Amino acid sequence: MTILQQNPPSLHVFAEAADDLPLAQAVAAQLGTGLLPSAPQEAEGGILVMVRDGRIQVRENRADAAPVSVTFHAGRNAHRQRFGGGINQHLCRAVGLNKSPGLHIIDANGGYARDAFVLAGFGARITLLEQSPLLCLMVKEALQDAAQDSQFAATAERITVINTDSVAYLQARTGTAADVIYLDPMFPERRKSAAVKKDMQLLHALAGPDTSGEALLQAALQKAARRVVVKRPVHAAPLSTQRLTGEVRATHTRYDIYAPLPAD
Ligand SMILES: C[S@@+](CC[C@H](N)C(=O)[O-])C[C@H]1O[C@@H](n2cnc3c(N)ncnc32)[C@H](O)[C@@H]1O
Repeated sequence: MTILQQNPPSLHVFAEAADDLPLAQAVAAQLGTGLLPSAPQEAEGGILVMVRDGRIQVRENRADAAPVSVTFHAGRNAHRQRFGGGINQHLCRAVGLNKSPGLHIIDANGGYARDAFVLAGFGARITLLEQSPLLCLMVKEALQDAAQDSQFAATAERITVINTDSVAYLQARTGTAADVIYLDPMFPERRKSAAVKKDMQLLHALAGPDTSGEALLQAALQKAARRVVVKRPVHAAPLSTQRLTGEVRATHTRYDIYAPLPAD
């Protein structure tokens, strides 16, 4: 797996118990790093990748950081799938899934794949692009677990995870790349530590500030067959001055909809 970010944080991989060593070794190899005998000193900073009971848990290397793992077949993601508002919820309407089932969607800001899992749950085929090798690993592991659960297996199987830079990926495609391209760029975090959820803190530590938003939108506009959708905080400015063809507003979130640019 290639490290794609400009300044990715250093990753410290270790196993909690002897039984976890084989998985920890595999994880370290996939992340292109060594396996440590134990957690490093906090002064070393970076990100701790702990293998515990056959699962990957990740946290920032400081005392007040809580571990984060990704799970689709239980907890918050499973709840959102069942009770999140069905195919007429804001996200599905924004991408047009309520009118056109079975869309192929590129999620070009994959993150924890929460949005991708919702869309796949309603029949979309998702190509998920994510620059962070560690996030890709966490999502792939969670998809493998979900694929063992008969209720979520079909959803999990509709998601393909690719560790890549989305701008480069889209620019390399000839012709259209998908029906819809969905962007959810990182928004600068204004609130400090305790107020911010642990998973968002980790995401900020792993991904850093968004630097490719505008370039990614331009690449997406050239490669989408039907529309490009950008998720924004509800009061934030649009990502571009390009004319919007629609928007879907939720309480805290707005989905800006752009028509693709005609091919040259
Ligand atoms: C706000 S998060 C997306 C959260 C996601 N929608 C979810 O439901 O979990 C933005 C993600 O985009 C990724 N990202 C930013 N620029 C990227 C790029 N050029 N190529 C690939 N991934 C990128 C970041 O690493 C980060 O994980």
